[in-house]
Amino acid sequence: MARIQEDAPIQRNHRLQGDYFQVDLHAPGIAAATQPGQFVHVQLPGFEHRVLRRPFSIYDVDAKTGRLSVIYKTVGEGTAHLASLPTGTVMNLLGPLGVGFSAPPAGTQPIVVAGGYGCAATYLFAKRSPVPPLVLIGGRSAGDILLQREFAALGCEVRISTNDGSQGHAGFVTALLEQALDRVSSPFVVSCGPNPMLYAVARILAERGLDGEVSLDHAMCCGVGACFACVVKLKAANPDGWEYVRTCLNGPVFKASTVHWE
Ligand code: FES
Repeated sequence: MARIQEDAPIQRNHRLQGDYFQVDLHAPGIAAATQPGQFVHVQLPGFEHRVLRRPFSIYDVDAKTGRLSVIYKTVGEGTAHLASLPTGTVMNLLGPLGVGFSAPPAGTQPIVVAGGYGCAATYLFAKRSPVPPLVLIGGRSAGDILLQREFAALGCEVRISTNDGSQGHAGFVTALLEQALDRVSSPFVVSCGPNPMLYAVARILAERGLDGEVSLDHAMCCGVGACFACVVKLKAANPDGWEYVRTCLNGPVFKASTVHWE
């Protein structure tokens, strides 16, 4: 799939809750081509002196209207700057980039395991799934739980866990995954969130002889495979038993069983 570079005006840039924001852009070319789990590389106007582009998972698209939405958390200068940009500001986007999630195979029950705003990267997967996934969302506390209503509106059963017990199950979201796997006979698990959570998901799947897909969280620079800033180790059938691949080009979604977790 060809990459598209597109000047995208901001249609709306608003706070969802706490430090979490959603920006809606008019990017018809990229919106029409996006597959679940892909990302866009964004040039922040007025911030070119600090960094050329930043990667953001694509949360939702509407191919009819050309809307492309991203959910982000203000964690530093760049995202704080993004949160300050008003409607009409034009951002240059490059995308859709990367390899996203597979469609769930026929006869499987899709399960989404999401940590924090990692749930945004899995929303399109759920939206396009022929069977509504069981959605498990975990966060530190209730203020970190996003998109519960949006997933439910797709017909998904949504379960919540928080580390501090302020909403749903008290503990890690992986406990909900173990419960789900006890009762689902043909699961197809996709996951996005912090890498320690993804590692735990991969371990649980491996213990049960299952596999799944994980969207790795990795720092990126060029976003298009040119700089090797985003390499991760994958298991490989070579004398070393592993190889480096580029998250931006070969991922960010990988089979959980192929990642060399360390
Ligand atoms: Fe440059 Fe992936 S970010 S190769």
